[in-house]
Amino acid sequence: MAAEQSRKLRLAVLVSGGGTNLQALIDRAKSGDLSAEIVVVASDRKDALGLVRARKAGIATHVVNYGAHLQSGGEDLGKQPFPVDLRQLDRVQKILKHEDDSTRILHLGRLVLAEQELIEKLSPYQPDFICLAGYMRLVSPYFLAHYNVAGGMRVLNIHPALLPAFPGQHGYSDTLAYGCKWGGITVHFVDEGEDTGPIIAQAVYPVWPDDDLEQVRQRGLQLEYEVYSQCINWLAAGQVRLIESSEKRLITTIDDPSYPAIVNSWLQKSFM
Ligand code: GRF
Repeated sequence: MAAEQSRKLRLAVLVSGGGTNLQALIDRAKSGDLSAEIVVVASDRKDALGLVRARKAGIATHVVNYGAHLQSGGEDLGKQPFPVDLRQLDRVQKILKHEDDSTRILHLGRLVLAEQELIEKLSPYQPDFICLAGYMRLVSPYFLAHYNVAGGMRVLNIHPALLPAFPGQHGYSDTLAYGCKWGGITVHFVDEGEDTGPIIAQAVYPVWPDDDLEQVRQRGLQLEYEVYSQCINWLAAGQVRLIESSEKRLITTIDDPSYPAIVNSWLQKSFM
């Protein structure tokens, strides 16, 4: 699909580390292959290499010091008005699993304060979508509710495994350690769970007998770059439809006649 056929989306990209996915998006935006403009990049780490990449590309950057919020004694939680009812939020969240209620709610409150700062920093840029790209922070339902308006889902993630296999942060090493013969990557909307949101697209790659972790990671990353940008182009073209499955689960369907050819091209690339 030609990128110029659709309206350019405004993207906020969140990174914690090296930012090679961010770089791939920057490069594709520059070459006209992405129907989107990266309007801001934010990080929870001031030393994230992704921030350097963004600045080099002339993109505004911001840092939110999650550590300061998460380690605070929670004094701010007593401040009025707190942005959200934490007990209500705790009922819908599925990410924090501390056994006792007060520890969990305190942690959730601190996370909300960090996210409030993040939202304030992103707001002036009016992003259409928030793209997590190696962002190592949990996203609470408070953050999601801010962006998921009018029935749309607006927060995306790239995951280094074929979900629902291997959620969490170690997709490539889990794939290798399990002895998988195929690995995969997933772009999905973010919901209240850990890597459980509606899948937009997936691609697979072969794992060869002598592969080490770096070879597996590199093969997967090349696909991540392709698939993430394609998903953004589908979103820009209005070709990603959220529907309810017969099991009452939100899933997506892609309304692009070129879909089979695109998936086939990912498969071919995975053998290169
Ligand atoms: C990628 O493997 C992505 O799937 C995962 O974190 C990694 C980020 O890599 N969520 P990079 O920072 O984009 O190089």
